[in-house]
Amino acid sequence: MNWPLAKTERAPKSQELALTTIVKIRATDQLMSAVYALRRQVSVIEQGVPEDLEVDENDKAATHLAALSDGHVIGTLRIVRHERTAQIGRMAVSAHSRKKGIGRELMEFAAAAASRDGAQEIILAAQFTAREFYKQLGYIEEGAVFDEAGISHVMMRKRLRP
Ligand SMILES: CC(C)(COP(=O)(O)OP(=O)(O)OC[C@H]1O[C@@H](n2cnc3c(N)ncnc32)[C@H](O)[C@@H]1OP(=O)(O)O)[C@@H](O)C(=O)NCCC(=O)NCCS
Repeated sequence: MNWPLAKTERAPKSQELALTTIVKIRATDQLMSAVYALRRQVSVIEQGVPEDLEVDENDKAATHLAALSDGHVIGTLRIVRHERTAQIGRMAVSAHSRKKGIGRELMEFAAAAASRDGAQEIILAAQFTAREFYKQLGYIEEGAVFDEAGISHVMMRKRLRP
């Protein structure tokens, strides 16, 4: 029998999501080469971001999340802390794993981790075409559209506590 789900639970959107594990790592972790490879594939190869901008100084101090499926990194983001604000960036899900809920799981994991670490709010520079993805997660657009690495972006913010 299928029991109704409790309010806080959600049925996995796909078998891949159900089998996905998210891990929190630092820049020195051995998984980082696969994280960088995925980021390069998505931003540099798919989206044309200049290679020299993809990895920056913030990577060293950031907390990185890796979504793992069958041992492979299929999604990632990083969290950079600026005092009481956490900034999420370098969000990427591999092309064959998109629209299965993995991006949302990564964002929810990141928000929970940032909140546990005492952050008051999360900010991010959303690619203009991806802003609906973040809106669905409670982020609010702020300010004018700007260009970064040749791609239109808009800042978005979500408060974690008053
Ligand atoms: C944007 C991205 C991270 C989303 O990851 P994903 O795993 O495909 O997203 P999910 O499956 O968790 O989607 C969650 C919801 O957002 C929606 N969504 C996903 N990508 C979207 C987009 N680009 N625009 C609008 N809505 C989007 C989904 O349809 C889904 O809605 P639903 O729950 O009503 O079905 C992924 O598509 C990606 O890596 N794209 C290329 C790189 C990129 O654009 N990065 C963003 C940098 S700001």
